[in-house]
Amino acid sequence: MTLSAKRILLVIAGGVAAYKALDLIRRLKERGASVRVAMTAAAQEFVAPLSAGALAGGKVYTDLFDREDEHDVGHIRLARDNDLIIVAPATADLMAKMAHGLANDLASAVLLAAKTKILVAPAMNPAMWSHPATQRNAATLKRDGVDFIGPNAGEMAEAGEAGTGRMAEPLEIVAAAEALLDASPKPLSGRTILVTSGPTHEPIDPVRYIANRSSGKQGHAIAAALARLGATVKLVSGPVTIPDPAGVETVHIETARQMLDASLAALPLDAAVMVAAVADWRPETEANEKIKKKAGEGAPALSLTENPDILAAIGHHANRPRLVVGFAAETTDIVANGQAKLKKKGADLIVANDVSPDSGIGGAGGVMGGARNRVRILSGDGVDEWPEMDKDEVARRLAGLIARMLETVTV
Ligand code: CTP
Repeated sequence: MTLSAKRILLVIAGGVAAYKALDLIRRLKERGASVRVAMTAAAQEFVAPLSAGALAGGKVYTDLFDREDEHDVGHIRLARDNDLIIVAPATADLMAKMAHGLANDLASAVLLAAKTKILVAPAMNPAMWSHPATQRNAATLKRDGVDFIGPNAGEMAEAGEAGTGRMAEPLEIVAAAEALLDASPKPLSGRTILVTSGPTHEPIDPVRYIANRSSGKQGHAIAAALARLGATVKLVSGPVTIPDPAGVETVHIETARQMLDASLAALPLDAAVMVAAVADWRPETEANEKIKKKAGEGAPALSLTENPDILAAIGHHANRPRLVVGFAAETTDIVANGQAKLKKKGADLIVANDVSPDSGIGGAGGVMGGARNRVRILSGDGVDEWPEMDKDEVARRLAGLIARMLETVTV
């Protein structure tokens, strides 16, 4: 059992998702972990400490000044003797306290005193999650080395509310905990890999830009999958609404030229995986002020100029990574077009996908923005057709293929 004999402290904060923490306790115990539980005062409004205690098989810790425990500084002890601390659900409030080092209740004091790894599973209303204050706190915590799982997109408990803010499912949290605690050598340990993801925005004026439908889902999933195999991953992401993947160093950019600079700055690398849907063209000039409608003058003409090709710049670089993987977004002649890109861009592999909105792949609207993908892997050796699957599964398989290729590709 992967979590066998692992000591886990579960901190439950106050949110509707607290009921899922009970299932999480069960799942962790099923896998052989010993689980201790601390709950905030608000958490106890959602689930009874007795339920959590019964499932965990022990006392639930709730008070900073517990007469029985505090004579030997119990909260410090609770913070120690753990292999991992999981905060699930993590509320905006508890994340804010963690980010600022507040310690005015047992949960926050334990988290401040902890020296072990911490895995946070946020759960809150989408407006609270996307609020700059919460995003700032999440970024601070990531910089401090805290790992995140979720939040996921989907329906919220509040009727009619949807967006990103749902707590990751208990099994996803378990998988993240297993990955964090897995000390076995991994196939990509010691490798540094660049991933580009998402669209680019090319400004027309201060308020308008040219963009495309890329969501960043496939690129972010690949970055996460490579990190899970032990790689040091540098992700250069265009503007997306999904969270930065856990365990990945993410640089946020807007334009193709910024993406090129950030990608070149990541060299030297063992591999580069260019998933971003880079805008091929940008407006030749960016107006300093918002372009106004002028009576009688009609629409302004937009004159475009070509953007640098980032994949080609890396693929033909003097300091080229050993393995260069490109994507090909096609709507016609997918294999022939993809194969032409292999040579032109100096790539070892091209992952070709059909991005026609009516391809029937990826759900309504097609692969771009959808959750699923069907890809063909093109290389000098020919074409390998993969069946349609979730983008996470495409990512997992591609990361495995990259690991195998890095083993065999000679310098
Ligand atoms: N790419 C890039 N920089 C660009 C354009 C594309 O790095 N300026 C990369 C993409 O990240 C992808 C690959 O090149 O890995 C192919 O992208 P795609 O849009 O399919 O090809 P294009 O070069 O744009 O060719 P076309 O639009 O003519 O199909």
